[in-house]
Amino acid sequence: MTLTWLITGTSSGFGRILTEQLIERGDRVAATLRSPGRLDDLVARAGDRLWVRALDVTDRARVQVVVDDAFAELGRVDVVVSNAGYTLVGAAEEATDEQIVRQFDTNVLGPIRLVRAALPHLRAQGGGRILQIGSNVGHIGVPGAAYYSASKFAVVGFFEALRAEVEPFGIGVTIVEPGGATTSFVDGADMAPVLEAYSGTPAAAPRGLAQHYDPPGDARKMVAAMIASVDTPAAPRRLVLGSDSYSVITGALRDRLAQVEAQSSSASLTDR
Ligand SMILES: NC(=O)c1ccc[n+]([C@@H]2O[C@H](COP(=O)([O-])OP(=O)(O)OC[C@H]3O[C@@H](n4cnc5c(N)ncnc54)[C@H](OP(=O)(O)O)[C@@H]3O)[C@@H](O)[C@H]2O)c1
Repeated sequence: MTLTWLITGTSSGFGRILTEQLIERGDRVAATLRSPGRLDDLVARAGDRLWVRALDVTDRARVQVVVDDAFAELGRVDVVVSNAGYTLVGAAEEATDEQIVRQFDTNVLGPIRLVRAALPHLRAQGGGRILQIGSNVGHIGVPGAAYYSASKFAVVGFFEALRAEVEPFGIGVTIVEPGGATTSFVDGADMAPVLEAYSGTPAAAPRGLAQHYDPPGDARKMVAAMIASVDTPAAPRRLVLGSDSYSVITGALRDRLAQVEAQSSSASLTDR
């Protein structure tokens, strides 16, 4: 069955590859990105199966207009993919207020705006799927990427709650948790100004990542797995992609469980 997808951040990385693979398999894509010209080559190949609009996810009014237009002009949208995002690199103390606000505006409020704009349409058409691109970093706090970590934790909380809210309307929600993959992600990082006090500390480690970043993940295989997850009858709650993601998440969960279980007796001491 041919599906129609709405995707944010399709200029590069997962968003661009997803758009390419979907067009290749015959689906329709409403591709949104900040610089629409970057999809000109695909438009020439895909014709009317590719609908392109300029969208910066920090622009609330524009998110509403683009989502409304996509549903109106394409008739229906089966899958909404909230993909746009980037990382702010630097110690908590190093980042500026403006950088912190932009990180949350993009990675947290962006997905929330997108989904709130799409929900009335998804309910009206009787259901659909939402894919939120999270990260294994949504399970651990990474020194030197505290705001990025916090943003990925935040979307997990939001989309876990949303999943239960929208299930009665036939809307499935999946949080995708990729490990490292070679996209423009590292090059697209926003770097906080350097405070010398942090040099040589754990918070400085992500600053050198671009020189030796060699993640195990194959972005094309990851995107194929995202598409396959939508072809299943029930939306998986989480989609873990990459051996690094699997080991980070299982390690974090085991560690957290051990810490909580160590307090099994003391926790009840505060009961009435
Ligand atoms: N690659 C990894 O290792 C990895 C691992 C786990 C999770 N992720 C997640 O995967 C998602 C996609 O990242 P990627 O790896 O594909 O990196 P990427 O190649 O840098 O793609 C990021 C996309 O987000 C867009 N974007 C950033 N801010 C935006 C805004 N305000 N409005 C609209 N679009 C915006 C970028 O657009 P511009 O070109 O206009 O900047 C770009 O299209 C992100 O949510 C990221 O957190 C990546």
